[in-house]
Amino acid sequence: MQRIALLKRCLEIKYAYNMAKQAASLCTLDVAKSADLRLGGKVAIITGGASGIGEATCRLFAAQGAKVVIADIKDEDGHRLQEQLGATSSFCHCDVTIESEMASLVDFSLSRYGALHVMFNNAGVTDGGHIGATLAHLNMDEYVRVMDVNVKGVVHGIKHAARVMHAGGSIICTGSVNSEVAIGNNHAYTIAKHAVAGIVKTAALELGAMGVRVNGVSPCVVATPMVVKVIEKFVKGITSEDVQRLAQRPDNMPLQGVGGLTPHDVAQAVLFLASDESRFVSGHNLLLDGAFTTSRRFSFF
Ligand SMILES: NC(=O)c1ccc[n+]([C@@H]2O[C@H](COP(=O)([O-])OP(=O)(O)OC[C@H]3O[C@@H](n4cnc5c(N)ncnc54)[C@H](O)[C@@H]3O)[C@@H](O)[C@H]2O)c1
Repeated sequence: MQRIALLKRCLEIKYAYNMAKQAASLCTLDVAKSADLRLGGKVAIITGGASGIGEATCRLFAAQGAKVVIADIKDEDGHRLQEQLGATSSFCHCDVTIESEMASLVDFSLSRYGALHVMFNNAGVTDGGHIGATLAHLNMDEYVRVMDVNVKGVVHGIKHAARVMHAGGSIICTGSVNSEVAIGNNHAYTIAKHAVAGIVKTAALELGAMGVRVNGVSPCVVATPMVVKVIEKFVKGITSEDVQRLAQRPDNMPLQGVGGLTPHDVAQAVLFLASDESRFVSGHNLLLDGAFTTSRRFSFF
């Protein structure tokens, strides 16, 4: 009888030992998994997060372990995306042109998540419908609108991120190939995106003292709603696939055979700049342009 009780006790201990071993290995697996996530434990704000490049970045950041604050003026789209991303994300209405809304956005991130590690100033507009207008006919209301969103909005984002990023952080601003060269007659957009490249440099100089890195990400044509809407004004019924094909034509794009530039490609570059993998990169403008701005074709025939 005593022997049976002893055997039973041994089996219980062995069972408990196996369970503990299994739990320990699961824990190690969890730790390993979260260590593999490139933004594990980080809190990020993404402006213009409800569509296009911003939306792709929200999705990628969330998949890489970040707590994501989606900021946009498109409340319905923003809430829909938040529902898809789940509990580790939030939507916060923010018009980047209004400083008090930017201040509230940053404060929201602090009160909800206790920190802000990554600020992606991405919201932007183009001078839609006025492409092709000469400087002599530049619509000054349109000019102010583009400068307000693309320049003032970025300055607001940097200013209020700098206010709270005392222990380091990463600020990324969306420029464009128009930060480097002029394309077509979208003057306001080119002026604004050149300004973004300048803001990145001056902010990197000052904020480096606080361990805050500031970089730009500058894509070539990506077939997002912003671009399709503008080109549609000139080519009726054009689709995003058509825009991507147009952008990839060999006379438009040196880099061939890799498919067109997608919002996800841009998000991957932003992820690199947001993560600790880029810990010594600051003041840089990362171009995703397939050598568009660095090369010219010279046709003999
Ligand atoms: N698509 C391209 O080809 C391309 C190329 C280079 C740079 N960019 C830049 O990428 C950024 C994202 O554009 P996208 O192509 O994803 O376009 P998009 O239109 O899909 O997304 C832009 C988002 O910004 C939001 N937004 C606009 N004004 C705002 C404001 N005042 N406050 C807050 N949010 C605002 C819009 O609601 C929208 O959700 C922009 O800065 C744009 O200039 C785009």
